[in-house]
Amino acid sequence: MALTSPRAATLLQQYDRPGPRYTSYPTAVEFTERFDEPSYRDRLRAAAAETGEPLSLYVHLPFCEARCTYCGCMTIITRKREVADRYLDYLEREITMLAGALHGRKHVVQYHWGGGTPTYLSPAQIERLHGCVTRHFDIDPLGEIAIEVDPRVTTEEQLRLLHSLGFNRLSMGVQDLTPEVQEAIGRRQPASLTRDLYDVARTIGFQSINLDLIYGLPRQTPDTFGKTLSAVAAMRPDRVAVYSYAHVPWLRPHQKGINPAELPDRDTKFELIGSAIDTFADAGYEAIGMDHFALPEDDLALAARARRLHRNFMGYTTRRAGDMLGVGVSAIGDLHGAFAQNVKKLSTYYSSLDAGRFPIERGYALSADDLVRRYVITELMCNFYVDRAETLHRFGVAFDSYFDKELSALSAPGGPVAHGFLRMSPDSLEVTDRGRLFVRNICMQFDTYLPAHDGRPVFSRTI
Ligand SMILES: C[S@@+](CC[C@H](N)C(=O)[O-])C[C@H]1O[C@@H](n2cnc3c(N)ncnc32)[C@H](O)[C@@H]1O
Ligand code: SF4
Repeated sequence: MALTSPRAATLLQQYDRPGPRYTSYPTAVEFTERFDEPSYRDRLRAAAAETGEPLSLYVHLPFCEARCTYCGCMTIITRKREVADRYLDYLEREITMLAGALHGRKHVVQYHWGGGTPTYLSPAQIERLHGCVTRHFDIDPLGEIAIEVDPRVTTEEQLRLLHSLGFNRLSMGVQDLTPEVQEAIGRRQPASLTRDLYDVARTIGFQSINLDLIYGLPRQTPDTFGKTLSAVAAMRPDRVAVYSYAHVPWLRPHQKGINPAELPDRDTKFELIGSAIDTFADAGYEAIGMDHFALPEDDLALAARARRLHRNFMGYTTRRAGDMLGVGVSAIGDLHGAFAQNVKKLSTYYSSLDAGRFPIERGYALSADDLVRRYVITELMCNFYVDRAETLHRFGVAFDSYFDKELSALSAPGGPVAHGFLRMSPDSLEVTDRGRLFVRNICMQFDTYLPAHDGRPVFSRTI
């Protein structure tokens, strides 16, 4: 366990505050409607000029059969399968419009279907959507071609088809194997069902399989979560994500269905992630970024060791594609120095595309200052390391003078340096092993937008 001092409880109290997960900087909270469809078209024009550069492509499939009470994702709950056909009609329009605007720039090295539940689609619908994408974009077969699958609704037929289409990575939602926890989160998923689908995926030969767990869920105890961790480690997935439960009922009102009295307290939550770190270390996994573990030979571990890890809305990745396209309701793109998010409402998504407009709802054009800070925050979140010379190389900014205030705060008495969470040398900043769990707090020092949100419920808590 990383933090064993008797002062641990006080430290946890000091560091446990609302803070972003930094899948982007600035975070989506800053997105504004001032960034509109014409702004997006401008960025696409600029992106089209970079003909040879690789792309990332995220496809959002929002449908789920039922809502899990803890869910923080953008979902649409329906059992009417035919809604997916209509959605695919419009996804095809958006993909076709995007490809047209990119004038032949079409080499994709990172391709991800997320949700919602992408395997809500039938095999025929999966083929149809992938067929549309590959008519317009060249998916690099050696790239990351990934899909999120919910074992409760995924069949062997779907997995075989996905593999034959070139999908090489699966991410399975597990969360917790304990029946009492599953009952509290509205997600019945017998361990045997997860294990059986995992075995099928292994037999089919997917290159990398990830399992998602969450700590901090109602009714979780160190004992029960320990059993889930051991069972998952015994399955030997290539990667495991152990997310901190983001309890944000002001953004996701259905989370009010979770009884706050059943949520583990701060110290227990810390114990839960501590036991995940220990279990996966003992099982030969390497800790990656803030909340992932990977077998040493997995690409993610190789990239982390070489300090080549990146992070975007899809999570940690080994690929740096300068521009990321997002298609589907609520999808976020990151294009030529700007974020652009699609509308969240299905009817507006359809009416925008009917009118020949990209369905952009809001976005954010990054300033020069945002770009430097984004670089520093991303390096810390991914590689726990910032080379001070790099900001001069990349942005013409002398690190020490530019971040004088931030560096003073980090090295002040009672701050991360004093607590042994961050090591500063003349050349670099390095998050220590003890400090990894507090990396969000360290990044928050470089975030100029946070003070404006002080006292308002915006972000989940860092622990
Ligand atoms: C879109 S969901 C997964 C795909 C699929 N729908 C499923 O549930 O299996 C992606 C992952 O986000 C994580 N997640 C969802 N809501 C969360 C929350 N409130 N806090 C932390 N992680 C969350 C879960 O681990 C989940 O597996
Ligand atoms: S966790 Fe997955 S299945 Fe459950 S509601 Fe969220 S997206 Fe849907």
